[in-house]
Amino acid sequence: MFTERQWVIDILNPAAECIGFSDYKTCFSIAQIVILFGSCYKISRRRSGASFGRNIMTSVNGKTGRNDFCPCGSGRKYKTCCLPAKDRAFYLMKQQYLRQYRIRLKDPKDVEGIRSAGSLAVASLDYIAHHLAPEITTEYINSLIHDFITSQGATPAPLNYMGFPKSACTSVNEVVCHGIPGKRVLREGDIINVDVTPILNGYYADANKTFFIGSPGVDAEKIVSAARECLKRGIAMVKPGNTVGDIGWAIQEYAESLKCSVVREYTGHGVGYAFHEPPEIPHIGQRDTGIVLVPGMVFTIEPMINLGGPDLRLLDDNWTVLTVDRSLSAQFEQTVVVTDDGVETLTPYNLEEPLLSLIGGPAAP
Ligand code: MF3
Ligand code: CO
Ligand code: CO
Repeated sequence: MFTERQWVIDILNPAAECIGFSDYKTCFSIAQIVILFGSCYKISRRRSGASFGRNIMTSVNGKTGRNDFCPCGSGRKYKTCCLPAKDRAFYLMKQQYLRQYRIRLKDPKDVEGIRSAGSLAVASLDYIAHHLAPEITTEYINSLIHDFITSQGATPAPLNYMGFPKSACTSVNEVVCHGIPGKRVLREGDIINVDVTPILNGYYADANKTFFIGSPGVDAEKIVSAARECLKRGIAMVKPGNTVGDIGWAIQEYAESLKCSVVREYTGHGVGYAFHEPPEIPHIGQRDTGIVLVPGMVFTIEPMINLGGPDLRLLDDNWTVLTVDRSLSAQFEQTVVVTDDGVETLTPYNLEEPLLSLIGGPAAP
């Protein structure tokens, strides 16, 4: 049986050795090793020296055009030199991740489709932000989102998903997630998470944001700021060669340093071809543990952070999740893709702007 990382080491170390490195960890990233892995067939055939390997290390960036000179320095076109090897390496990686983890790595064309669905998710959140105000109901938010998403030729994934009755989740104050839009009326000082998942041309993108209704109190500001920073720090860990555990670790470290707690029961998840795909992305964890991130992985990071304890209660509707201690809970979610050299957000809303921009309502003139 292969242990968690063993196959990576078994496959990639010989590839690294092939081009003059002691093991894959001494190379810059797994993405480059994957390229090297493919390239090493050619390398061994040509009996090139170590400088050949180093050329690849410094110049292969995944952005070389098919008709450009190959970055390996052979003087030939990329498409007739190392590109087929890179494609083959990706193909092998895809098979391995499917077999071992049931993870479906995405091709560039699929990432493009998820990116479009992601733009619509971000547009939906922007749109709803302008309509948030005290005294509206969560049902009204749902109807606006439903109409917005369907008017763009897309389908809201939550509607009828495992019996969920609405087109978005609206989670107010002590509601952690999966709040069902209904008669609840928003009040000045509330916080509300709106979670949207459009399906566009068959591709899913999943994103959410927590907004202030009117001006926030101290607690609301603290928990919303903490949750957003947790997402930022989680995303910052995403690059080839890092692990799922690194993401959870970064989030847990930060949340707990503020004496906030991280929800365990709900995690990020693979997404793109379906609403929820493997793997799970826990928002707690240890460095250097769990599945190794590789290019083409698409998943959400969506930490739910509580002001009090981490324990949850499920309401009788079988959806609404509350904090047991009724403390405030906030969440931010984005869909990301692991690239050859880092991460790209496919639902790219701004995680840096001033917190007060999260106050809903019409934009100032
Ligand atoms: N959008 C949620 C997530 O981030 C899932 C909601 S499931 C639903 O994974 F059925 F409540 F919509
Ligand atoms: Co999600
Ligand atoms: Co979501």
